[in-house]
Amino acid sequence: HASIDELDARILSAKETLGDRVVILGHFYQRDEVIKYADIVGDSFQLARAATQRPDAEALVFCGVHFMAETADMLSGDGQAVILPNLAAGCSMADMANIDQVEDCWEQLEELFGTSDDGLAPIIPVTYMNSSAAIKAFCGRNGGIVCTSSNAKTVLEWAFARGRRVLFFPDQHLGRNTAKAMGISVDEMPLWNPNKPLGGNTAPVLQAAKVVLWQGFCSVHKRFTVAQIEQARAAHPGVRVIVHPECPMEVVDAADESGSTDYISKAIDAAPNRTTFAIGTEINLVRRLSNDHPRLTIFCLDPVVCPCSTMYRIHPGYLAWVLERMVAGEIVNQISVPDDVTVPARVALERMLAATP
Ligand code: 13P
Ligand code: SF4
Repeated sequence: HASIDELDARILSAKETLGDRVVILGHFYQRDEVIKYADIVGDSFQLARAATQRPDAEALVFCGVHFMAETADMLSGDGQAVILPNLAAGCSMADMANIDQVEDCWEQLEELFGTSDDGLAPIIPVTYMNSSAAIKAFCGRNGGIVCTSSNAKTVLEWAFARGRRVLFFPDQHLGRNTAKAMGISVDEMPLWNPNKPLGGNTAPVLQAAKVVLWQGFCSVHKRFTVAQIEQARAAHPGVRVIVHPECPMEVVDAADESGSTDYISKAIDAAPNRTTFAIGTEINLVRRLSNDHPRLTIFCLDPVVCPCSTMYRIHPGYLAWVLERMVAGEIVNQISVPDDVTVPARVALERMLAATP
C-alpha cells in the first residue's frame, strides 16, 4: 500500500507525462485528496457540459460516480475514452429505478391517460441525471428530457410546455421540491411505488396528477431533518441554512435556501465576512468549503458525518493506477455505453443542454 505522498508523486508524474491527452473531471463531493488533481471541478450539470468541451483529449478521467461517467461518455467525442477510476463507484439512488420498472410504469400510465387532442402529450418523462444511461435513452425515445438539481425548474417548464403531466424519476424529493416551488400542490404529486399496480394509487388520483413521483431518494440527503435546522438556528442566531434539493420537502421548507452543489458553493463564495452557514449536503463538500473560507463559519447540519460512500470509493490509489496504465498505453476502467443506448439518450441530454441557459 502506497502512502499518500507516494501516490501524490505518482499522480503528478503521470499527469505531467500525459499532458493534454487527459482531462480529469471532479465532482464537488470528491475527497480533497482526489479533487486537488481535477482540471475541472463542478456539479453534475457543469461536468456533463464539460464533457462536450474537450474533444481534443484522448481520455476523460471522471472522479465521480457511474451515471456521471456514462453521461460523459455519451456526450464526449467519438473515439474519446471515459475512465471511472473505481468501477464500484455507483449511486444508490440511480439504482432505485431500473429500466424494466420504468417501462412497466410507462405502459400503465399510457394506458390510463390515453391520448389527448389538445396538442399536449398526456405525460412527459423527466429523469434526474442520477439514473442509468438506459433510462436516459427511454426518455429520449418517449419525448422526455434529463434534468439536474441546478436546472430542474427550467426542465419542468420545458416539459409542461409539451405535456399535461410529468413522470419524474428517480428522486421523489427533487421532483416534489421543484414542482412545489412552481406552485404545484403536493396533492397533485402522487408517489409511484414500482412494486405495486398503478404505483399503489387509484386511477382518479393519477388522473388528477400533475407530477407522478418515483419512490426513489438519496440515502445521504434523507438524513437531514427539521430538528437539525431548529438546533442550528437556536445555537447560531442569524445562521443561513442552505440544503440540497435532494433533501425531504420539510427540510427544504425549513431551510433559507436550497440548491445544487454549485449553487451552495457560489452562495458561500459571495457571502459577506463572518456569515455563519449550516449546510445540508455531503460532508466532503461542506468540509472543503469550510477550510477554503476561514472568514466564514460553515458547518454540516448533520452532526454525525455523512459522506456519500460511493463517491468516496474514488481513492487516489485508483487515480494513480488508471493514469499510469494510460502512460503505459492501456485504457482501463473504461465506461462505454453502447450506441443503441447512446443515440436516444443523447436526444434527452441534448434537450436538457439546449433548454439550460
Ligand atoms: P449536483 O447536481 O448538485 O452536483 O448533485 C449531484 C448529486 O449526486 C447530489 O447528491
Ligand atoms: Fe447518489 Fe446521493 Fe451519492 Fe448523490 S449523494 S451520488 S444522489 S448516493
